[in-house]
Amino acid sequence: MPAFVIVGAQWGDEGKGKVTDMLAERADLVARYNGGDNAGHSVQLGTERFALHQIPSGILYPECLCVMGNGMVINPRTLNQELDELASRGVDISPRRLKLSDRAHLNLPHHQALDGAAEAALGKKAIGTTRRGIGPCYADKAARTGLRASELRAPKQFGAKLRAALEEKNRWLQNVYGQAPLDVDALVEEYVAYAERLAPYVADTTTLVNQALAEGKRVLCEGAQGTLLDLDHGTYPYVTSSYPTVGGALVGLGIGPRWIAKVIGVAKAYSSRVGAGPFPTELAGAVADHIVEVGHEYGTTTGRRRRVGWLDLVVLRHSARVNGLDLWALTLLDVLTGLKPLRLALAYTYQGQELHDLPSDGEVLAACQPVYLDLAGWDEDITAVTRFEHLPAAAQEYVRLIEEHTGVPVGLISVGPERKQTILRAPL
Ligand code: GDP
Ligand code: IMO
Ligand code: MG
Repeated sequence: MPAFVIVGAQWGDEGKGKVTDMLAERADLVARYNGGDNAGHSVQLGTERFALHQIPSGILYPECLCVMGNGMVINPRTLNQELDELASRGVDISPRRLKLSDRAHLNLPHHQALDGAAEAALGKKAIGTTRRGIGPCYADKAARTGLRASELRAPKQFGAKLRAALEEKNRWLQNVYGQAPLDVDALVEEYVAYAERLAPYVADTTTLVNQALAEGKRVLCEGAQGTLLDLDHGTYPYVTSSYPTVGGALVGLGIGPRWIAKVIGVAKAYSSRVGAGPFPTELAGAVADHIVEVGHEYGTTTGRRRRVGWLDLVVLRHSARVNGLDLWALTLLDVLTGLKPLRLALAYTYQGQELHDLPSDGEVLAACQPVYLDLAGWDEDITAVTRFEHLPAAAQEYVRLIEEHTGVPVGLISVGPERKQTILRAPL
């Protein structure tokens, strides 16, 4: 049986956690393929709310095997906390259910310190990272100087390698950034203990995922971040350091393209972005405040207020193209209730010219003005609607316009955070 890939189509926080959790009900295996604890994927189960950072959003189904793929960067300290938190809430987190790729890189304290130092040094030009060490960790991976999860299997040797890395990066922290050095002895002791705890989870997940596919198991590949934060296809340099796009699923899990049956683009019904960088449809004032309050647009990981704006179909067309999307999962449609008029960006103008494709140059994008289509909007509460035909006509029209201007059908519509608050237009 084939794999489905779930990719974020905008700047992250599109509701990938909700969509993954919903689809995981029928999956045998859920695998995260990129990023690390910069991600925050929320799953709402009745009154209970889970925020998953490194553990896949299939973990709440006892029969679902969860994989943290080789494309991820794993922070042992926060993974340890996440495991404890889930265990305290009754979730089975035994190594039988959860596997960590031996090829995944380790995101270590010096990466976090360097991330913070680099951001501080950038001043007003800061990227607005989550300061979780993501960039420095992937930089070490590319420089071939990183430590991989396979090291956790031999805690003592891992301790010695960590010590060497900390001593080297302390020179950077002190001599380049003028910062205090990290406490090597204390950190080595702390992290050797994590190695002992995490070692049983380490596995050759490439073989495991491919075997599952060959046996006809249903595999969901869960992306973190979003297409516009992709290192190549996003708004560089205001991006993350991994590949949230569909190619990241192939490399980040070690699977071939023929296994992929469907690529699902998760898009929220408006736009949001945390951190710096161009955002043509960004809103300020009362409409922005309304969206932030109704949509609870505060970061799951950092608590930062998210920037919000109208839905941008130039962005969605770009995502549809670079991911080869089969369908949209349109989320948070309920948040638009009561907003009148509703605006959809169909194109941009730049120096008197109309642009239909996303410019690669961030400075050009920052100078683009959206060309809006204004729509009447609707007032009806849609949070209990489970059939497309029962949505107000204006909401149906909004969905149809997205399909028309992106050439991709909207297969799933989410009208609230809970599993049951979902309209499935056709069986997947
Ligand atoms: P992710 O990072 O893509 O998984 O998204 P986040 O979890 O960071 O942010 C999405 C937020 O929207 C979370 O608080 C979800 O519980 C919530 N959410 C998801 N889908 C819907 C929806 O259709 N309507 C509403 N109102 N909230 C939703
Ligand atoms: P999920 O998976 C939204 C953003 C940061 C910053 C940029 C680079 O929950 O959708 P990084 O720490 O990765 O080096 O920061 O990327 N960012 C996210 N924004 N959702 C996320 O994850 C994000 N992960 C990183 O805010 O702008
Ligand atoms: Mg999130």
